[in-house]
Amino acid sequence: MSSMLSPGDKAADPKVIVALDFDHLSALDALIDQLEPGSCRLKVGKELFTTFGPPVVERLIQKGFDVFLDLKFHDIPNTTAQAVRAAARMGVWMVNVHASGGRAMMSRCREVLAGESYQPLLIAVTVLTSLSASEVSEIGYPGTPDDVVSHLARLAQDSGMDGVVCSAREAERLKAERGARFCLVTPGIRPVGSATNDQVRVVTPVDALRQGSHYLVIGRPITQSKEPAAVLAEINRQIQLMC
Ligand code: C5P
Repeated sequence: MSSMLSPGDKAADPKVIVALDFDHLSALDALIDQLEPGSCRLKVGKELFTTFGPPVVERLIQKGFDVFLDLKFHDIPNTTAQAVRAAARMGVWMVNVHASGGRAMMSRCREVLAGESYQPLLIAVTVLTSLSASEVSEIGYPGTPDDVVSHLARLAQDSGMDGVVCSAREAERLKAERGARFCLVTPGIRPVGSATNDQVRVVTPVDALRQGSHYLVIGRPITQSKEPAAVLAEINRQIQLMC
C-alpha cells in the first residue's frame, strides 16, 4: 500500500483512475486481471461498494492497486469523520466528502485523520457536475455554478482538504485560484475517438492535464473496451509524450 499525502508523491504516479462501475464480480475480475497497479489507479463507487462491501476494496488493495473510495460522504461532522477514518483503516489511497457538509464537517475529518498512522488523500466534491444552472439555483445557492464551485473549493481548502473533484473545464480556474498543489480530480474524460456515452462536455486526457487536472477518472472507454489494457496503454503513452 502506498502512503501519500500529496498528489505526485508515488514513484510511478499513474494519472488514470479507472472507474469500476460493475455489478458483477466476474466482470470486475476479468478487467482487473488485465490491469497493472503501475499503470492506473481504481475507483470504487457507490454501486460496487454497496453491492460487495469492504472485501472488494481490500481485494483490490491486496493486488497492489491504489483505490479511490468514491462514496461522497455527507453527514454530521462526527459521523463523516468516523467514516473517513474507517476508509483510512481499510487502506484506501483517496476518499471524498461533500464540501457542502461545511467547514466543521471537513475540519473534523482532517483532525480525525491526523490521528491515524496512514492518511489517504482527502478530497471534496463541490457541485455535482450533473446539476444544471437552474437546479443549482433551485437548491438555493446564489450565483452561477462556477461561483459556487469556486466558493466551495476555497472552503474545502480552508478546511484542510487536499483537493476537489471537478470538471476538467473548471481545472484551469481552480488551479489559478487554489494553487498548483491543490489536487484536482476530473471525470468526464474521453480519449480521442472514443464514444462520449452519457457524458455531455468531454475533455481528452492530455487536455485535462494541460488544464491543471492531477488525476483523470475514466470508466467506460476502458472498462467496456475489448482491449482495456491497450486503451489504457495508449492513454498513458499520450500522457508520457506531453511530459
Ligand atoms: O464511464 P465514465 O468515464 O463516464 O465514468 C466516469 C465515472 O466518474 C463514473 O464512475 C461516474 O459516476 C463518475 N463521475 C462522473 N461525472 C461526475 C462525477 C463523477 O462521470 N461529474
